Amino acid sequence: MAGIEEIVARARETRERAYAPYSGFKVGAVLETEDGDLHCGCNVENASLGLTICAERGALVGALAAGRRKFRRLVLVTDGEEAVPPCGACREVLAEFSPDLPIVSVDGRGGLKEWTLDELLPRPFHLNTTRG
Ligand code: THU
Repeated sequence: MAGIEEIVARARETRERAYAPYSGFKVGAVLETEDGDLHCGCNVENASLGLTICAERGALVGALAAGRRKFRRLVLVTDGEEAVPPCGACREVLAEFSPDLPIVSVDGRGGLKEWTLDELLPRPFHLNTTRG
């Protein structure tokens, strides 16, 4: 089982592979499954800007493709002055699978912030229909 330092190191490594020529803001994410597998993601920008894929969603899609749906922690790394929480869109997508996911975010100086997803997104969208 990886400790937080090893997970942060994986997030930093993955962050290096981010494609962020438009914002210059590289993000690395590691999603840890309930039994300790690590799934990594980085942001991938696009010239049409709106098609940019965030690091968190990259990590989640990789984990799902590997058959994993239960998570115990998300770790984010940037080089920003302050540790960032996941954007609103990523919060909704993560909440689909882990509404109370613990999140650790590390800034450029190694400063750390922690939240839970339900704290950041207390009222996720739910489909409310008997159809389908
Ligand atoms: N970004 C992420 O990867 N995750 C977030 O939660 C917030 C923003 C990326 C998107 C874009 O490539 C860059 O950071 C600046 O917004």
